[in-house]
Amino acid sequence: MTTTTDMATAGRAPELYDPLHDTRLEEVYQTYAVLRRDAPVYYSERRQVWCLSRHADVQAAARDWETFSSIPGTDLDTPNLYGPGNFLDDDPPRHDSLRNIVRPFFIPKAIDRLGPEIAGRVEAIIAELREKPTVDLAADFALRLPTWVISRLLGAHEDDDALVQRLVLEIESHEPGETEVSDRALTAVRDLRSYLSDLLAHKARHPDDRVMSHLAACVSTHELSKDQAIGMAGVLFGGGTETTYALIGNILNLLAEHPSALEALRSEGAALAIDSVIEEALRFEAPVQYVARTARQPAIFHEVTIPRGGRVILLWAAANRDPARWDRPDEFDIRRERSRHVSFGEGIHFCVGAPLARLETRIALPAFLRAFSEYEISAKRRRNHHLVRGWDRLEARLVRSAR
Ligand code: HEM
Repeated sequence: MTTTTDMATAGRAPELYDPLHDTRLEEVYQTYAVLRRDAPVYYSERRQVWCLSRHADVQAAARDWETFSSIPGTDLDTPNLYGPGNFLDDDPPRHDSLRNIVRPFFIPKAIDRLGPEIAGRVEAIIAELREKPTVDLAADFALRLPTWVISRLLGAHEDDDALVQRLVLEIESHEPGETEVSDRALTAVRDLRSYLSDLLAHKARHPDDRVMSHLAACVSTHELSKDQAIGMAGVLFGGGTETTYALIGNILNLLAEHPSALEALRSEGAALAIDSVIEEALRFEAPVQYVARTARQPAIFHEVTIPRGGRVILLWAAANRDPARWDRPDEFDIRRERSRHVSFGEGIHFCVGAPLARLETRIALPAFLRAFSEYEISAKRRRNHHLVRGWDRLEARLVRSAR
């Protein structure tokens, strides 16, 4: 394991906010409130990063890609791990041409066609849950669906799901406080790249209508290099797993914590659109709490100058609770009038997988509530991650509905 820099800062006064540590804390939203009110352009000495937390500032910076670059990477501790082709960590014009290559697979019209396949998988997972008196809703439900869906969309074989899931979780595991990538994550990147290289070669010989075959075709026409195709597939696997896993777990936990919301959802059904619940959960608990940028030129916010080369984080999660934008922002209110949150980002990097994440959740949640008339979470543990906010353990007792 490469080391942390915590030793270098030992003895200094504690800082208001530590972006590499505080995401997992229950009180993190109180910290965001202090940042928004008192330090909207907060500088973390310890991590040497500027933190924007007000909705208007986060939105403005996200839209200004010419000033706020995604190179060398959008995570604080990693330079673009997936390599060339990972358009999340790239700028125009290359970002746009790479994104356009896969975009047709992710538009709502294409994604909606996956509905029956996803519904079938959800029913199969639920059938297994119905056989168990207690389950872990994080590992046994929230995690299983996104891995399966992204693997089918890309065209991977079902036998490889466990391997891909393990590698992606290892790559994306950023333990709080670590400032460099762990050797474990580096090994997992190498293994995933080698797996994707084999899959690409296989799809070149046996093409189908899935994403990997399209990437293989782009390699054969030199639209993409092989390295780019692998990097692009890598970020799709990574982006498609962690985040939706967090979202589904967050919703199940929020509904368990807000029985009146759960009751309303059960009794009013379709009348209280499931979409409102999903959007409010996304606003309330942003699965991706922030992303990083690098200032390509000096930028001024509230008379504070972020210097050229400064690392900046855009705190989606703090922006989503800005009282300048929402009434009672700290209340989870499923009847809230819709107001666009920034949990899927903003501007040119707006999440390409948003329609897919929404579709998965829109199918999984009602199916779960139909299958179980009650559920009670008896033990839970937060993900130990510096920017994804979710749960990796949600032990629950389920009461089966009569079918
Ligand atoms: C609840 C689920 C999800 C959340 C909260 C989420 C969040 C985000 C956010 C905040 C960004 C913007 C990053 C930035 O500005 O630097 C983003 C971009 C991205 N997401 Fe998602 N995401 C989710 C699901 C997915 C899924 C299912 C995929 C599957 C392919 C995916 C793939 C991507 C990719 C490739 C990008 C980069 C887009 C670009 O740079 O043009 N995401 N996501």
